[in-house]
Amino acid sequence: MQLHLQTWQEVEAYLQTSRGIILPIGSTEQHGPTGLIGTDAICAEVIARGVGETTGALVAPTIAVGMAQHHLGFAGSMTLRPSTLITVLKDMVESLARHGFERFYFLNGHGGNIATLGAAFSEIYAARSIGMETNAAPIKCRLKNWWQNQEVHDLAKELYGDAEGSHATPSEVAITQFAYPEAIKSAPLEPPVAPRGDFADAADYRRKFPDGRIGSNPALATPEAGHRLYEAAVAAIARDYQSWVAG
Ligand code: NI
Repeated sequence: MQLHLQTWQEVEAYLQTSRGIILPIGSTEQHGPTGLIGTDAICAEVIARGVGETTGALVAPTIAVGMAQHHLGFAGSMTLRPSTLITVLKDMVESLARHGFERFYFLNGHGGNIATLGAAFSEIYAARSIGMETNAAPIKCRLKNWWQNQEVHDLAKELYGDAEGSHATPSEVAITQFAYPEAIKSAPLEPPVAPRGDFADAADYRRKFPDGRIGSNPALATPEAGHRLYEAAVAAIARDYQSWVAG
């Protein structure tokens, strides 16, 4: 169930049955010569909707712009500063908490969001702990990266081995191909497996990873593999959501 396709009365009725909500969060950033700018938001969104269908959970609108300062050397990439994203996340959680939501399950599609999500959770808890929000409901937030579960890990290993890499991965590109077959791209990738390493700001990133990829060969992506990865992720995350929200 998607929040933006409900009425307010339907949301009130849902709150009689569950206090949990899934919030997909991604990024709008380059994903190499064959990956869509929206890859991270698309992956989080389609998997969140699948989990919502499996579990009956409400799914909030996708937070499509994340913390991606290191990608700004490539056209089309957008970022929120960490401090901006923390404010956005706090306001979204507090808006929903006002109505009685208590379990906020962030389904994340972008590694660059992880530190900021953790900081946002700490800000939300700190407001309660310090006493600024004395009447606030006890809430809990959880961060779940769609690729961090045994099923997806094993399948990505089987499909791509070391060519999975860490940015513009064949796994995430495959899921976008499954979701949007009309937008499948092809382009030469040289070298086929991109270099690895760390990075600091956008200029440093562009110097080290000239076509945007890190350690990956997304030419291996297919929509069929994307379908398998999608189903593996939905099954694993639905289980995780249900046990967490019940706990
Ligand atoms: Ni990505």
